[in-house]
Formats: sequence, structure tokens, C-alpha cells
Amino acid sequence: MNEMIRKKAKIREKTYLAPDIYRYSFLTDLCSGAEPGQFVMIYPVNGARLLGRPLCIADVSGEDNDSGRADDPGHYFDIVFRVVGGGTEEISGYNPGDELYIEGPLGHGYPFDEKTIGGKNIVMLGGGLGAPSLLFLAKKLMKAPSAFVSLTAVLGYRDRSMNHFLASDFGGTGIKTIISTDDGSEGIRGNVIDALEESGIKADLIYACGPLPMLSAVKRYAKEAGATAYISLEERMACGLGVCLGCVAKTTEKDAHSGVKNARVCTEGPVFCAETVDI
Ligand SMILES: Cc1cc2nc3c(=O)[nH]c(=O)nc-3n(C[C@H](O)[C@H](O)[C@H](O)COP(=O)(O)OP(=O)(O)OC[C@H]3O[C@@H](n4cnc5c(N)ncnc54)[C@H](O)[C@@H]3O)c2cc1C
Ligand code: FES
Repeated sequence: MNEMIRKKAKIREKTYLAPDIYRYSFLTDLCSGAEPGQFVMIYPVNGARLLGRPLCIADVSGEDNDSGRADDPGHYFDIVFRVVGGGTEEISGYNPGDELYIEGPLGHGYPFDEKTIGGKNIVMLGGGLGAPSLLFLAKKLMKAPSAFVSLTAVLGYRDRSMNHFLASDFGGTGIKTIISTDDGSEGIRGNVIDALEESGIKADLIYACGPLPMLSAVKRYAKEAGATAYISLEERMACGLGVCLGCVAKTTEKDAHSGVKNARVCTEGPVFCAETVDI
């Protein structure tokens, strides 16, 4: 695991993806050694809001990671976020050239070593704002294409107004990408599991990120299909460093250290093997 640090970073690019959804690219080497599934805490400059906001790392360029974008060979990393409250509202008001404090990379990401992915049919399931961390994973996996048998991304959206954001980025990596919408206005009607079943795609290994009900359904689906699932959980976070215990998730086994069935999402997660968490 790489060292976590806090730095001021400049926004190099801001892209509007869909109503209330933005992609920011930060000019910094902060996340050069980051793993897919890790996140950063972004600190709004507004002093009234002291807590950082956790956001997944969606793409990284420089040193260990290289996004493959031809336009900028320098160090940067991307986030994609939806405006849901005061913190993300404030972050959405910044523009290229503005600076924010960023802490990271934080947490444990998706395992994707040869032993985990070798010989597997891999499916990535991204519900809404779950897609960003999987995009970073997709780019990493495509650097080891010989290790797995197949790789498919299924991205679920509420409706067509979400502009199937990031779907073209997944497609651009060469991965088979399937889209679903809850109302059927684009792609397959239904959720990501409906789309997976309708497409008849075999999954031995699942990586999933999205709302909790979706992750519970993924856990059930994986158990029935005999697949292994790694899911990225979201909990409200305060410190992001394992200190405040504000982000605990229920686990199926007792923690050897604390003797309780709890795990801190910010440090033990956010990615967990689905069968180890009680969701
Ligand atoms: C590890 C991790 C990675 C995340 N990655 C992303 C990402 O890549 N893109 C993205 O858009 N969002 C992501 N989130 C969620 C994001 O952190 C919250 O939406 C954000 O902190 C809300 O801050 P706010 O001040 O705008 O909203 P608040 O005013 O704090 O809350 C507004 C509403 O959002 C809900 N909310 C706030 N925080 C969370 C949370 N952590 N999980 C679920 N609901 C929440 C509140 O209950 C409330 O209903 C991630 C969360 C975690 C824990
Ligand atoms: S956010 Fe403080 S322990 Fe996880």
C-alpha cells in the first residue's frame, strides 16, 4: 500500500458529464501509485465545512499508472462526482486553475493480481456513480489481458438523461460495455443484474460499485452463480483514516482485534469480498 499524503492540487480540467455530474482532473502526482478502488478526501476551501468528502479515483496518469491519454503525459488523476449536498455543491463551483486540498490515496482497493483474475470471466457492475472506480480498474485490467478469459462492463443508469456517462471511456479501453437504464430509455431495461442475465454473460469474478441495494443484490447473485464478488461500500466518513469509527460496516465474522463484527470502510475497505460483509 502506498503512502497517504495531503496536498494542494490544481484543477486542470472540468467536464460536465450529465446534470449535476462532473469530471475533474487534478494536476498532481498525489495518486501516481494509487490502486483502483482507492479514494481521496477532497476538502472544500469553505472553512464552515471541515470534513473532507470521499470520492473514488477514476483515472490516473504518470509513473505507475498511465491513462493512455495522448493530450497530457504529465501527472494527474480524475474524479467523477454527483452534486448531492453542500460539500459536493461547493466542489462543483470550482474551475480549472483553482486549488483544493486533497488527501490520499486512501483505503484498500480491488484485488486484481494474477491469482485473482487468472482464467476468469470477469464482470464489472457499476451502478450510477459506482462507475468511476471501475473505470480505473478496467484500465489496469486491460494491461494484463492474457491473464483473464473475458472482461465485460455493465453500467446502470436511472434514465437516458444521465448521458450514459463514462460508457465511452469503458468502450475506449476495448472492453465489451453494456448499458442498462431503470426505465428502459437507453440500453437494456432494468438494473445491472437484469442486464447481465439478459446478455447471457458468464461471471466467475465480479467487481461492483453502486448503491447499497444493488450491492446486496450482487452479493446474492454471486452466491447463486458460484462467483466471487468484490464490492465497494459507501458509508458517511469523517476522518477517512480509521480513527473516528464513523464509517463502520457490519461483517459476517468477528474482527480478531476488536472482537466485534465491524470493519471500518475507510481503512479495511471500501472494497470487501462480498461474503465477508453483512449487507
Ligand atoms: C469511499 C467512498 C467513495 C465515494 N466515491 C464517490 C464518487 O466517486 N463519486 C460520487 O459522486 N460520490 C462518491 N461517494 C459519495 C460522496 O462522498 C458523497 O456524495 C459526498 O460526501 C456528499 O457530500 P455533500 O456534502 O455534498 O452531501 P451531504 O450534505 O453530506 O449529504 C447529502 C446527501 O447525500 C448522502 N450522503 C452523504 N455522504 C454519503 C456517502 N458517503 N454515501 C452515501 N450517501 C451519502 C446524505 O445522507 C444526504 O442524503 C463516495 C463515498 C465513499 C464513502
Ligand atoms: S471515517 Fe473515521 S474511521 Fe472511517
